[in-house]
Formats: sequence, structure tokens, C-alpha cells
Amino acid sequence: MKILVLNGPNLNMLGIREPDIYGRETYASLIEKITEHCKAKQLDVDCRQSNHEGDLVDWIQEAYGSFDGIVINPGAYTHTSVAILDALKAVSVPTVEVHISDVDSREEFRRTSYLRAACIATISGRGTDGYLEAVDLLAKRSGK
Ligand code: DQA
Repeated sequence: MKILVLNGPNLNMLGIREPDIYGRETYASLIEKITEHCKAKQLDVDCRQSNHEGDLVDWIQEAYGSFDGIVINPGAYTHTSVAILDALKAVSVPTVEVHISDVDSREEFRRTSYLRAACIATISGRGTDGYLEAVDLLAKRSGK
């Protein structure tokens, strides 16, 4: 099974950005953690990060026919991007939305997710372990 892990804007700043909210773990160590987890489960994983909405749309389109599942933390695009919603609907690759923080207990504007409608699940407020839970959910769903 091949899983694409996408991180949106400012997630490359993990460990530096608002550590009280997002923790002290860096982006590099998050990727290492996901990679190790997938290796142990014999899952292929490709992790990418961009601060640009169009890159995320391009990568979702690329997933069509080449990945079996997507884990996405779209960062602030969660609350604004119809383009990401449409891309996910276009490819129909099973997708899990992840947020490190508990978006529902923060500012009002963070409660809206444009892409939730195109996802099989949302994992929020579980810290970086949420990415591993998302991977496990996709693997379980595909019978792996
Ligand atoms: C986030 C929550 C978003 O509201 C925020 O814009 C982020 C990170 C999270 O992981 O908790 O950049 O997606």
C-alpha cells in the first residue's frame, strides 16, 4: 500500500512555531516518525510539504492511480481552500484529514474545514501521533 502524506503551510516550522500549541517536535522528526511507523507496517510512504496551495493541488492530482491513500494536514488552507476540496473530490483517493491541535476548541474560524466533506475521517488534537493514527486507519480500511 502506498500512502502520500501532505503537509501545508507553516508545518515546516514545527518545533519553532507556537510550541505551546504545536509542540517542540520538528518537521524533520515528524517525518522520521511517520517513515519509521510505515516501515514497521510495510507501507510505502512519501511525505511532502509546501507553503503553496497549488503544490498541494498538484500532488493530490498526482495521487490519482499512484497512491492508495492520502494523509493531509492542510494547515490554514483547511479553512479557506475550495481548490483542495475539489482536488480531493476529483481523485477520490481515500483521505484522512489531520490537525495537530484541537481545531474545534480554538478560534471560531478554525472550526470550518472545507475539505472535511471529501475525507473518510478527521483526526484533530492528538499531536503528531494523529498522523500515525491516520496511516493506521487507511491501512486498516484497505485490509493491510
Ligand atoms: C493546523 C491547524 C490550523 O488551523 C493551522 O492553520 C495550522 C495547523 C494543526 O495542525 O493543528 O497551520 O492544521
